[in-house]
Parts: sequence; structure tokens; C-alpha cells
Amino acid sequence: MKKIKISPSILSADFSNLRTEIQRLESGGADMIHVDVMDGHFVPNLTIGPPVIKALKKHSSLLFDVHLMISPVHKYIQSYSEAGADIITIHPEATEDLNSSILKIKELGKKVGISLNPETKIDVILEFLEKIDLVLIMSVNPGFGGQKFMPEVLSKVKELKKIQSEKKLNFDIEIDGGINFENSKKAIEAGVNILVSGTTIFKSNNGDIKKNIELLKSK
Ligand code: DX5
Ligand code: ZN
Repeated sequence: MKKIKISPSILSADFSNLRTEIQRLESGGADMIHVDVMDGHFVPNLTIGPPVIKALKKHSSLLFDVHLMISPVHKYIQSYSEAGADIITIHPEATEDLNSSILKIKELGKKVGISLNPETKIDVILEFLEKIDLVLIMSVNPGFGGQKFMPEVLSKVKELKKIQSEKKLNFDIEIDGGINFENSKKAIEAGVNILVSGTTIFKSNNGDIKKNIELLKSK
């Protein structure tokens, strides 16, 4: 049974104070930092890019779990790697050739993740499961923090977990979108081992990050 890890999404952080915010996450017990990169094309929102990631990387020893909601994505992988991404997660819908994008991330020595939108079936990535380090199951339609959790994706988590044990694979299963203190337990029971959370971590209990991370981790 893998240790449950928390990857807070800085999309819900104070963007005028990101250095302090990621230091709060680190001292609050976060296992990694979830960086939501949006291009206003793949998703209807625009956030940050390589220069900001590079600037932040110096101020944290945590892994940067970079979620690329951009398309096309292949030609930008190198710059996110150079900026300091440790895990690079891409959407199959955003690359012309998923296999070459996976190989590119691995060539750069980074961990590779594939993210599935709520309506995207697992079949799309079955042939790649042996090659990847992480599957990110979206429990909202990507683009914004603070959306409502879509419980129907838990059946996809269970299906993925079953395939993982049948094939004796060891990739991480991460869930992202609308995670709170109630549904996090169901997500863990379904087979998730990394929880992404923005709103719940930054806004609950008067923004007590340490308490919110502990509550999410406790089963
Ligand atoms: C949505 C992002 C998620 C989101 C999570 O497109 O990928 O990471 O920011 O934020 P909450 O926890 O507020 O739903
Ligand atoms: Zn995300």
C-alpha cells in the first residue's frame, strides 16, 4: 500500500505572494507542489509558464508536480523540464503523438504523467501504462480551482487500480479537482495515492495549511 501524498495546487494560492505560499506549503507538510499550467487554449484560463516555475524552484526543496493543460504540448516539454519540473503531466488530447511526448519527458530524466479528463476513457492510455510514472485522474473539467468534485470518476480510479494490479505495475494514481475532507477518503479507498487540492488546502480552517494537509492525509 503506497503512502498517501498531498500535492497542493498553487492555483488557489495568493499569486502576488507565490514564494511565501510555497514555503508555507513546505513547512505545512506538503509532499510536492502541484503547478497548474494553463494556456487559454487547451483550457479557458491562463496561468503561469516556465519563467515563474524557474523563479519558484529556487525557494523550495519539494518536487514540482507540473500539470500541463496546454496544447500543443510536445514542443514545450523541454522548457518546462529546464525550468525545474520534476513530474511533467500531459493530456493525451494535447499532443499529436503521445508516445513521442512520453519518450521526450523520459529522455529529459523527468517523471512522466498522463492526465485523463473526466470524459476520457482509460483505453486511450492502456498501451502506455508500462512506460509512465503517474496517471492523473481529473475529477473536474480542467481550467479552474474551486469546482465541484465529480464522483463518477471514482469508477475510473477503481478500473485503473484493477488493471495496475493485474499488470503488476507501480505508477502513482493522482486525483485532481474538488478534493475535500469528505471525498478524499473515497478517493483513497478507490485506489488513489496522491491527492491534489487547492481550495480545501488554502481556504479551509482559516487557511491553516498544516491542519488541512493533515486532515486530507488522515484516512
Ligand atoms: C483544475 C486544476 C486543479 C485545480 C484543483 O484545472 O487542474 O489542480 O486547481 O483545485 P481545487 O482543489 O480547488 O479543485
Ligand atoms: Zn491540476
